[in-house]
Amino acid sequence: MISRRDFLVGVPVGLAAAAAIHPLLTWAADQQGVFVPGKEGMIVRSARFFDLEMPPEFFDSWITPVSHFFVRNHMHEPSTLDASTWRLTISGEVEKPQTLSLADLSKMASHSVTNTLECAGNGRGFQQPRVPGVQWQKGAVGTARFTGSRLRDVLDRAGAKANGKHVMFHGLDEVPGKVPPFIRSIPIEKAIDGDTLIATRMNGAVLSKHHGFPARALVPGWIGAASCKWLSEIKVLEREFDGNFMKPGYRMPNHPVKPGDALNVDDSHPITALNVKSVIAAPVDGSTLKSRALHVHGAAWGGETEITKVEISTDAGASWQPAQLGREQSKYAWRLWSYLWKAPKAGEYTIMSRATDSQGRVQPATTEWNPSGYLYNAIDKVKVNVQA
Ligand code: MTE
Repeated sequence: MISRRDFLVGVPVGLAAAAAIHPLLTWAADQQGVFVPGKEGMIVRSARFFDLEMPPEFFDSWITPVSHFFVRNHMHEPSTLDASTWRLTISGEVEKPQTLSLADLSKMASHSVTNTLECAGNGRGFQQPRVPGVQWQKGAVGTARFTGSRLRDVLDRAGAKANGKHVMFHGLDEVPGKVPPFIRSIPIEKAIDGDTLIATRMNGAVLSKHHGFPARALVPGWIGAASCKWLSEIKVLEREFDGNFMKPGYRMPNHPVKPGDALNVDDSHPITALNVKSVIAAPVDGSTLKSRALHVHGAAWGGETEITKVEISTDAGASWQPAQLGREQSKYAWRLWSYLWKAPKAGEYTIMSRATDSQGRVQPATTEWNPSGYLYNAIDKVKVNVQA
């Protein structure tokens, strides 16, 4: 397991000092020269906590290896986690409150879900005008096979009452200073969906500490924030939880907001499922290519919906051609796609990708600006210089 001490070994002295001077920052500028063991090659968006982005070249695998899977932490990872003493409590609007060990969970039916997990703030770095927060570009997203017990079975065991309408998750994060704890809730309908898990494994291995060891919620198709890591407490509530990370956090305005305006919490709603979106993994934006034959490829996902089409434009959006969708698919997982194209002559080209899903949602040319830069899903584009 990786402790904060191991991590800091790789932090240049100057950066460690900077983190100490600004203890209330919840994000920081990109950190060059910071090494996180087991996460080599990732873009370190913040070294204060761990905010690690997958660079575009790692979008080459339908299942993202854990070493390439993004990490989003709002606060410090728990410094001590012991599988033998870990317990999960289930309380609130239930007939029989429970305290479960990992052994108890392992005796329940096991279920696996291949899910594309995306942070609501993915793409925030492309929002204009700029908004504060981690400046994610393409890679606060990854696809993994999560395995564990169904949340529904755990709620049945506790005897959730009919007045229980929301299910709250609380993690074991170490909360710095006055920052409120990471607590969020999901509606009961999603909680009892047969694919919503208390996951203990990721890609066949025990969850790593960065991804929520020993157990995390897995709310498939929804923004990553719904999937609480280092889960310690589940509470059935009559009403939606209204703490910081539900309100004002992770909300979208009900009506378009003028760029620069603040969120009116009373005219907003919590974000749930992901948008339809595609990203271009290669060629990389700004690259110079020595061949006119290009292999354009990437990934597309829609949260709870199926991707039906990805189209590519090589003339800055004037015309579109269908990309080939990859064979591998699963209900909540992205589809890889590829497109072979021969540039007619040397020159500069703008290549774009646009996804459509089974609900008829089409990736838009621009996204509505919102104060936290959530759910960015504008048509992806890269500019390349073909020199052959
Ligand atoms: N759970 C806890 N306890 N603390 C957190 O900071 N971050 C959330 C979610 N679960 C978070 C958490 C957010 S915002 C995201 S996008 C996902 O975890 C990221 O999951 P990952 O780090 O395994 O990729």
